[in-house]
Amino acid sequence: MRTVPLVYNRPKEHPRDTLSFIHITDTHILNNAGESFHALNTRKSLQAVLSNCITRYPDIDFWLFTGDISQTGKPESYSLFCSIIKDYDIPVYCVPGNHDNPEHLQRVIPDCPVNSVHIIQLGRFSLVLLDSWVLNEHHGRISCQNLRQLEDYLQQSCNLFNIIVLHHPPVPVGSQWLDDIGLQNSTEFLQVLSGHPEDTLVLFGHVHQEVDLQSGRLRLLSTPSTCHQFKPLSQAYCPDTLPPAYRFVKLGLGNALDTQVHYVNEARVQG
Ligand SMILES: [Fe+2]
Repeated sequence: MRTVPLVYNRPKEHPRDTLSFIHITDTHILNNAGESFHALNTRKSLQAVLSNCITRYPDIDFWLFTGDISQTGKPESYSLFCSIIKDYDIPVYCVPGNHDNPEHLQRVIPDCPVNSVHIIQLGRFSLVLLDSWVLNEHHGRISCQNLRQLEDYLQQSCNLFNIIVLHHPPVPVGSQWLDDIGLQNSTEFLQVLSGHPEDTLVLFGHVHQEVDLQSGRLRLLSTPSTCHQFKPLSQAYCPDTLPPAYRFVKLGLGNALDTQVHYVNEARVQG
């Protein structure tokens, strides 16, 4: 029987009371450096986004990628992703999306969860990385075992601020076609989080648009992709004309949250 670990990682001392990071999502990297995805070179757009964020925010603690790192799930696409991020000495954390191959992704980013829950503890903050990937499906699901592990962890970590990270939206975003391929067991997921709304933040990808929602007292954020965006409040698939983007997140004293999405016009790179 396959084991389903709860993995802890304390990568470095993080004595500060604040945490700042960049949320990047849905990079959809292809297999070859020169390839384009609907007339956009996703490698070059990611490079332009990273360059913009490091210029604007040189002191961040890490980059957080919420899935669909690859469009194809092939090892070559993850090699290409690695060749981009290795230009920077910044920790990278991620979760798999529906377009990813979680095992291939974990080979290049070891903290990526694969049917597991990964906890990255940074002082009084913890990053809780969840796997919502389902074989051959666009929708997501968190296994019962992982949900139990998440519940146990949250009960033991009531003195920490927990950043819960997954690819699929656990709440409706108002676009029927995206809500149909969200997290299928969102009710159970939100129930697990319901005891800890003030010291929890949920971050997700998949929807290729800016979302900032409350579910009760729980705050949930998503970020536009580093490639193409989807028009909000659409019944069916509808592309948006907004450029690639990223989100800055800063958590401060008293769990104050400062966040801003930046669109990067120069990241609209063809060919
Ligand atoms: Fe995506």
